[in-house]
Amino acid sequence: MLLQTLLGFLCSVGALATENTTAQQSAVPLLLVSFDGFRADYLQRFPMPNLKLLYSQGVLVEQLNNVFITKTFPNHYSLVTGLYAESHGILASTMYDPVSHKHFNLTSDKDPMWWNQAEPLWITALDSGYKTAAMMWPGSDVVIGNRTPTHFLPYNSTVTFQQRLESVINWMLGHEKEQGVMFAALYWEEPDRSGHIFGPDNATAMAKALKEVDDNIGLLMSELKRTGLWGNVNILITSDHGMAQCSADRLIRLDDCLKSDNYTLVDLSAVTALIPLQDPEVVFALLNKCHAHMTAYLKKSIPDRLHYRDNERIQPIILIADEGWTIVQRGDLPRLGDHGYDNSLPSMHPFLAAAGPSFRQGYQLKSLQSVDVYPLMCHLLSVPPRRNNGTLTQARCLLAAESCGDVAMVTALVVGVLFILSTITGLFWLLRSRRSMGPRAFQRLQVDYDDDDDPLLE
Ligand SMILES: *[C@@H]1O[C@H](CO)[C@@H](O)[C@H](O)[C@H]1NC(C)=O
Ligand SMILES: *[C@@H]1O[C@H](CO)[C@@H](O)[C@H](O)[C@H]1NC(C)=O
Ligand SMILES: *[C@@H]1O[C@H](CO)[C@@H](O)[C@H](O)[C@H]1NC(C)=O
Ligand SMILES: *[C@@H]1O[C@H](CO)[C@@H](O)[C@H](O)[C@H]1NC(C)=O
Ligand SMILES: *[C@@H]1O[C@H](CO)[C@@H](O)[C@H](O)[C@H]1NC(C)=O
Ligand SMILES: *[C@@H]1O[C@H](CO)[C@@H](O)[C@H](O)[C@H]1NC(C)=O
Ligand SMILES: [Zn+2]
Repeated sequence: MLLQTLLGFLCSVGALATENTTAQQSAVPLLLVSFDGFRADYLQRFPMPNLKLLYSQGVLVEQLNNVFITKTFPNHYSLVTGLYAESHGILASTMYDPVSHKHFNLTSDKDPMWWNQAEPLWITALDSGYKTAAMMWPGSDVVIGNRTPTHFLPYNSTVTFQQRLESVINWMLGHEKEQGVMFAALYWEEPDRSGHIFGPDNATAMAKALKEVDDNIGLLMSELKRTGLWGNVNILITSDHGMAQCSADRLIRLDDCLKSDNYTLVDLSAVTALIPLQDPEVVFALLNKCHAHMTAYLKKSIPDRLHYRDNERIQPIILIADEGWTIVQRGDLPRLGDHGYDNSLPSMHPFLAAAGPSFRQGYQLKSLQSVDVYPLMCHLLSVPPRRNNGTLTQARCLLAAESCGDVAMVTALVVGVLFILSTITGLFWLLRSRRSMGPRAFQRLQVDYDDDDDPLLE
């Protein structure tokens, strides 16, 4: 009884604290920029003066806990849908769909069937009456749910960052006949490209690549200032994944374990996907004992925490290499840097920086789930989010209008009170069960305890 009253009271305090967060704000345009393969600790290892200037006036999330597999397409689609890969359907850069018998790769990715398991923000925001744009972001030019963003360009590596930026800024500004876009996503392929070629441990090569990335961020800031957008738009700068150093000394050759006529290879990378052609258990057994730095999983036993099982496009067997190890069928090391590995590895995490009228100034957060970026963006735009795997709970701390500390205090209070109450209940139960050993009293007490416990689980 007392517990229920107290819970009711605490809930209403919680509701009051969150009331203002649901209030409609007059939204300002949002620009989402991704620099592919920007490993979180590059920020500590390299100067990045422009990026530091940007987040000193805004916020920084030091590590973004991204989704498995830590590859470009799955993570870029997670950023704009808030879904794990198993729920948005873009599971790798190379896929096979056993239902349609279709193949997906980076040069053949336009078929809508691959993308239609989710809806990216540049489509959803159209329903709020907004114009939107996607510049070379994976999926930009795909017709998803029969629609495309208002403006888009397909990936074209010969178009410079400056050219991409100019188009995006013009789309944001609009003109007499065309309203400016409220949401724009902009993609740039560095420092991923250099990370693969030279490896993240090559300080000389990475310093050069990151200097160019930082110069591009400087250009972004100065162009936004020149056009009057700076201070009037919210900017998110982030990435899809990090990068690990590979080596010819860390090579796993599948041919050493079983002949390739045992399986059809679907994807060969840090996470290898294959279809067994012989008895799956036999093929699995051969792969399972193949190498100490490679873990084999039958689809049904892929760990829950990876959120990488519930989709027909996940193949019957996947192999996950340890950090920095490379799986090949035969031959030599293909690249000095790679990603795709377990998303719990810090080397696989990117960062998130943001600035603009909705953000706090000079605030830093240790980490955030990358699926939380989508509900944050929907909140910034006042767009009702589609079903997703993220929450606004942590991300709201980044916002100027939020009383994040208060919410944290209320949470701490609730946890504290519940801890004390459960201790008292526990002691009470102990005393009672010692006094009356009758099975009836014992049962009744247990039922009561369970009843009280229910609201805590919500
Ligand atoms: C909500 O915001 C208004 C003004 O913006 C403020 O006066 C009020 O105290 C806030 N309420 C809560 C519960 O934070
Ligand atoms: C990509 O997929 C298309 C269509 O299935 C195929 O024709 C093409 O050869 C593939 N390209 C690569 C590089 O695998
Ligand atoms: C890529 O961009 C270049 C330079 O802007 C252009 O000349 C070329 O036609 C584009 N390629 C494709 C495939 O659109
Ligand atoms: C690092 O990269 C540079 C190119 O920027 C290259 O000349 C050098 O050989 C690389 N060093 C190592 C140790 O791979
Ligand atoms: C499968 O791999 C094993 C081990 O390398 C080999 O003995 C066998 O011949 C392979 N092929 C088939 C069709 O089983
Ligand atoms: C992620 O969200 C989707 C859509 O709501 C849902 O179907 C799926 O079960 C969620 N995944 C997890 C692990 O909660
Ligand atoms: Zn890459």
